[in-house]
Amino acid sequence: MPGTKKVFVKTFGCQMNVYDSERIAESLIPYGFTETDCLEEAEVIVLNTCHIREKAAEKVYSELGRLRQVKEDRRSLGKPTIVTVAGCVAQAEGAEILARSTVVDLVVGPQSYHRLPDLIFRAQSESRRIVDTNFPEEDKFASLPDRSIARPAKPASARAASAFLTVQEGCDKFCTFCVVPYTRGMEFSRPVDSLLDEAGSLISRGVRELTLLGQNVNAYHGAGPDGKDWSLARLIGAVARLDGLERLRYTTSHPHDMSDDLIAAHRDEAKLMPYLHLPFQAGSNRILAAMNRKHTVADYLRLIDKIRTARPDIALSTDVIVGFPGETESEFQETLKLIEEVGFAQAFSFKYSPRPGTPAAKIDEQLPEEVKSERLHRLQAVLASETSRFNEGCIGRVIPVLFERRGRRDGQLVGRSPYLQPVHADGAADLLGRIIPVEISQAGPNSLVGVIRAA
Ligand code: 5AD
Ligand code: SF4
Repeated sequence: MPGTKKVFVKTFGCQMNVYDSERIAESLIPYGFTETDCLEEAEVIVLNTCHIREKAAEKVYSELGRLRQVKEDRRSLGKPTIVTVAGCVAQAEGAEILARSTVVDLVVGPQSYHRLPDLIFRAQSESRRIVDTNFPEEDKFASLPDRSIARPAKPASARAASAFLTVQEGCDKFCTFCVVPYTRGMEFSRPVDSLLDEAGSLISRGVRELTLLGQNVNAYHGAGPDGKDWSLARLIGAVARLDGLERLRYTTSHPHDMSDDLIAAHRDEAKLMPYLHLPFQAGSNRILAAMNRKHTVADYLRLIDKIRTARPDIALSTDVIVGFPGETESEFQETLKLIEEVGFAQAFSFKYSPRPGTPAAKIDEQLPEEVKSERLHRLQAVLASETSRFNEGCIGRVIPVLFERRGRRDGQLVGRSPYLQPVHADGAADLLGRIIPVEISQAGPNSLVGVIRAA
């Protein structure tokens, strides 16, 4: 019987937060909750937050401002609400959040959200505000409900063809601009058996594509059933053998951990999609060293060569930061040059944002906002033209598309190409969850349009 209590979860930030939000919602199901999209009917509201850049963190406070009225209106109807801040802002700011926003009842970090049912109970029964940002000894994943038993919180996700699976968390790389090692903690790889179990549960829910997630996913080294540490390539091989799974992806990788067995998997593993997100962050060796990236421009180019030799049609994606402290105009131009040299299918670009507690935030030569904005503008023009070029190269090709959802127009479906581009095509709803050949007829800046060739 579905529960009568409602939880509303809003996700900010990265794919790992999307995954965590699903687990958070599922963890409340045994306690009589179902997930809702309607704030006003939720007795528990969870904001799963992101701290990667200042803008992301500030969004949380404007959202909390909006929640004040919702909570007040519910209170006047005799319905109490527990407002929870989870995720990386919770970890980074802890009790400060309670001081800054009186609407918040609970603060729970990304490593302790398995305790949420208990924390909610305590906050309600003891009528007090609670902060739990410890890095617990226990494995949070082992304490969360088994996904083959837990019903998906939202009926829509029961039919989702594509799902995320966190295999690794945290990061030991300490890039000088990045808060992740502080908010998510040290690197941790989940054991292979529990990942295969979870993957099996997701497949039995109708999932056809899995994206293995980690802040530094290619550093994965989880305990295998044979007692040895398994690499990501080995894990990919085992997950690919699961019946019913058709596609595999992984993200985010660090160039330093792009091992030969993983590159070979792109050649040998048919289910592994020809798409790789490999951030390089900056195109100048001096800036890369100041970022503590552990690779040079030449290392990155050599790696790209190796990967393209293994899988010539691979689509490459990256993250780039402009305006790192002290970055000169000519160093910025080296970034543009590297982008042109590689030819990316997709890229995410950001203005450097000083983050509290990180080494780069303490560097004196912080650049003015106008310089960062102007560089970002120029960078994005180059990146947009590369993405368009890649998309236009697909016109006339017949590409297998995994259809995931209905489009905005009646009769239209939306799916993904192997290269992760959204593809729109007219087709019947029974094609959802299936991989169908589509002839690409048009290419936009961020998506493709095509015609279904055979079902
Ligand atoms: N400022 C700007 N961008 C950042 N990123 C991480 N930290 C910062 C920061 N302080 C970017 C990096 C990373 C992506 C997830 O976010 O490019 O790869
Ligand atoms: Fe952050 Fe990625 Fe660097 Fe780790 S490798 S510190 S997550 S940017």
